[in-house]
Amino acid sequence: GVAAKIAPSMLSSDFANLASEAQRMLDCGADWLHMDIMDGAQLDGLLFDNVVAILLLHFVPNLTIGAPVIESLRKHTKAYLDCHLMVTNPLDYVEPLGKAGASGFTFHVEVSRDNWGELVQRIKSKGMRPGVSLKPGTPIEEVYPLVEGEYPVEMVLVMTVEPGFGGQKFMPETMDKVRALRKKYPSLDIEVDGGLGPSTIDMAASAGANCIVAGSSVFGAPDSAQVISLMRKSVEE
Ligand code: DX5
Ligand code: ZN
Repeated sequence: GVAAKIAPSMLSSDFANLASEAQRMLDCGADWLHMDIMDGAQLDGLLFDNVVAILLLHFVPNLTIGAPVIESLRKHTKAYLDCHLMVTNPLDYVEPLGKAGASGFTFHVEVSRDNWGELVQRIKSKGMRPGVSLKPGTPIEEVYPLVEGEYPVEMVLVMTVEPGFGGQKFMPETMDKVRALRKKYPSLDIEVDGGLGPSTIDMAASAGANCIVAGSSVFGAPDSAQVISLMRKSVEE
């Protein structure tokens, strides 16, 4: 099968101690560090084309981190920084995140329907690994052209909660999308994000996910290393 990558979501860490929290996760057996980059604008409104109106109307109270924080963290670790861009215009972040030392750059298909070719090319030209993500309500067919196209993404992130916050409940119905993807692409990196932990990992792993993001279940556990190793075993079974 495809190698397991366990990626603690640093959104659940103590941001004031980011470097030591990152090191703690690596010491606990993490493969990647998942970095949630949000610009405070809800993706929902972007289905319409009126950017100004939507940005004013649909703020979420969650503004997280940006390139300066990635740059600071990069000075403390060589780890793979798996960046998940929940922003209205991912193209604007390619250059700054590339400079900052991001490793993976995963954008949302909902905001990149018109320019993903250019986006993928630029991400690669900055030395990052391109990925595409989709929200629970977005059909899986929308990402097929990005996996198969001239400028293919190297990972698909299937959101298993509505993006925006850690600590939400896993949506089992999203597993149909993971199964469909795995059937079509046996060696693709398929990531899941949201509500993953000891009680949901088997559903995701048996559906075919190999990259596992987990925030609250890892940071909230008394023994984070145990949760990470349990999830790795489930993927590798
Ligand atoms: C949600 C983020 C997730 C989040 C996951 O929008 O993309 O990465 O941190 O947190 P948990 O694992 O707590 O659901
Ligand atoms: Zn995420």
